[in-house]
Amino acid sequence: MSVENIKIGMLGLGTVGRGVYRIITGNGENIKRKIGAGLEIKKILVRDLNRDRGVELDQQLLTGEINDIMEDPEIKIVIEVMGGIEPTLDFVQQALQNGKSVVTANKDMIAVYGKQLFELAEANRADLLFEASVAGGIPIIRPLKQCLAANRINQVIGIINGTTNYMLTKMTKEGSDFAEVLREAQDKGYAEANPASDIEGYDAARKLAILASIAFNSRVVLDDVYTEGITKITATDISYAGELNYTVKLLGIAKETEEGVEVRVHPTLIPVDHPLAAVNDVFNAIFVSGDAVGDTMFYGRGAGELPTASAVVSDAMDAARDLLRNVPGIISCTCYDEKPVKDMGLVESRYYIRIQVSDKPGVLASIAYAFSDKEVSLATVLQKQTDAVTAEIVLVTHKVREKNMQEALEIIKHLSSVKAISNVIRVEGD
Ligand SMILES: NC(=O)c1ccc[n+]([C@@H]2O[C@H](COP(=O)([O-])OP(=O)(O)OC[C@H]3O[C@@H](n4cnc5c(N)ncnc54)[C@H](OP(=O)(O)O)[C@@H]3O)[C@@H](O)[C@H]2O)c1
Repeated sequence: MSVENIKIGMLGLGTVGRGVYRIITGNGENIKRKIGAGLEIKKILVRDLNRDRGVELDQQLLTGEINDIMEDPEIKIVIEVMGGIEPTLDFVQQALQNGKSVVTANKDMIAVYGKQLFELAEANRADLLFEASVAGGIPIIRPLKQCLAANRINQVIGIINGTTNYMLTKMTKEGSDFAEVLREAQDKGYAEANPASDIEGYDAARKLAILASIAFNSRVVLDDVYTEGITKITATDISYAGELNYTVKLLGIAKETEEGVEVRVHPTLIPVDHPLAAVNDVFNAIFVSGDAVGDTMFYGRGAGELPTASAVVSDAMDAARDLLRNVPGIISCTCYDEKPVKDMGLVESRYYIRIQVSDKPGVLASIAYAFSDKEVSLATVLQKQTDAVTAEIVLVTHKVREKNMQEALEIIKHLSSVKAISNVIRVEGD
């Protein structure tokens, strides 16, 4: 294909769209020299044609009519930055059916409908690129698909939600409560008015499904991911974790094991000297281990206008290169295997457990007995006095299967000396 400029249709001109517009118009000369052709935004679909967009813009670029993009044969690349599933999925399918390459930042759509979309892209010889859908500006999809392609990836462990990382960092540094930190995150615009997607772990779960699919070359969907958010984490747990030389992070953990692919998102204690322990505030990081390369870590801003747009425009440049070489849609999907997803009951982990008990002799022995009966062995025990009649026991176990742990907790919960199991948090790293 030989053209002066490659024409782009954009769906959406919100936070990310504005960044994409700024980069394409502001870095146009560099982009042209890097790929051998210019990128030109020909049309942008929005809902409200009259809204102030915060960028200088020819109003003629805006349209409320999707067919101005879908039916324009000059538009070869569609950048989808409108988000959501409806009507976005229809628009993306339509673009691919019309042979247009698609670049998207939409984790919700890729985590659930990735398979269909990749098949459609391949059938229509179009690219479907989605670097920005996981960890915003951090390059991770392309490194996994290309730079680390020679490896068998053993595990991917990431801090992939900036809002919760900001909240846990604040709770750790200032000893503040969850509710107080959530309010602050909302005031700063880091957390949505309805924060469930972040604090319940769903956002991280979507991203982990995408990462695991690529890392292990086998389709993992959102429903496969065991998901627990950070709503039960208290300043007390964070403080005890610190005493034990751990820090608390919301991790997405994906491992390939003999019993299948393990995919889980939950709050986790990690040793303070683990590389992920130093990832604070809204930053994201993804720790990847491969059989040849060993350990690698990718770090940066997981969201925001320009960081996310950086990934989107780089994908658009790749799609443009493929068009110029006449090879779009050659390697879209890399899920060529069908590996089972491991049952959560079979997952092995260490655990931190905080229990409120009556302060009298023999209590610890009865708890230890219940654990040993289910093959849970204890590595560390701390005892704290809370008041005259209640003590708090903090335990860290050795590795044990989730199923055994749940059975032991069920017994312990009913012991007469146990007032409450206040928290159970998994522990990662040696
Ligand atoms: N924001 C981030 O930091 C970030 C990071 C990583 C990934 N992402 C992903 O990037 C995507 C975009 O996020 P964003 O934060 O830029 O969203 P946003 O600020 O809400 O912008 C959405 C844009 O899409 C347009 N739009 C929405 N529904 C539409 C419809 N039915 N018809 C026509 N136009 C429609 C809106 O038009 P109007 O302006 O006229 O309302 C708006 O311009 C999402 O998939 C998100 O998950 C965002």
